[in-house]
Amino acid sequence: MVDYAEQKEYWEGMGKRRHPSHPVIEAFAGPKLRWIRDHTEPPTDGPHTMVEIGAGNGYFSYGFDRAFELTATDFSETMLEMNPLPSNQKVQADASNLPFGDDSFDLAFCGNLLHHLEAPEVAVREMGRVARKHVVLLEPNALNPLMFAFGVVKREERGTLKFTPPYLKGLGKRAGLRLRAFSTQGMVLPNKTPEKLLPVFKAIDRPNPMGFYHVAIFDV
Ligand SMILES: C[S@@+](CC[C@H](N)C(=O)[O-])C[C@H]1O[C@@H](n2cnc3c(N)ncnc32)[C@H](O)[C@@H]1O
Repeated sequence: MVDYAEQKEYWEGMGKRRHPSHPVIEAFAGPKLRWIRDHTEPPTDGPHTMVEIGAGNGYFSYGFDRAFELTATDFSETMLEMNPLPSNQKVQADASNLPFGDDSFDLAFCGNLLHHLEAPEVAVREMGRVARKHVVLLEPNALNPLMFAFGVVKREERGTLKFTPPYLKGLGKRAGLRLRAFSTQGMVLPNKTPEKLLPVFKAIDRPNPMGFYHVAIFDV
């Protein structure tokens, strides 16, 4: 497992990535965003507020910003700079020590963050502290052969190997959260799926146990 300092160096040195408006990114993030919206409590008065932890260059922020009143956080200045949200919606912050008061947002979300952390349970507890209604965790599926292979060959992705459904559900439970909905889904990889093959991957992109990602929604 790569330690905190190495992770920071890795993300600060990140080069060019696809823009969040790219069709492959819409195919990656769109179905997950819709599933999350459909399985969380609908807002009654105005949009829900959401904080996104480890938002990176905004693959999820881009779509969430249309459905929620969004604040995006990340510990990497480089990644936040690439994130297309306006600067007043971006906060540089470490996942283990969020600079927000208790119950500050309706939802707290993180995508592809926890498998990079040495102590993911600390970040999940922080998310539960700042969220009033839901905590949503999205991580690679260790049971998917391709994700498993990335975890084996790439040191920064090694944390993926423990992300089975019981492990992800247990992370929320140990933080005092109650599981509301769980799904394994996704056949599109944001940086690796070739645009030319998108129609094929979109056609087979539906919830299935061998999908690339787990999504767990918890009630606080
Ligand atoms: C794989 S990227 C995911 C980005 C985005 N959520 C997505 O799914 O496309 C992981 C992100 O987590 C951030 N990150 C890693 N460790 C962190 C920490 N301890 N606190 C906050 N952000 C962190 C990295 O800077 C990076 O932007």
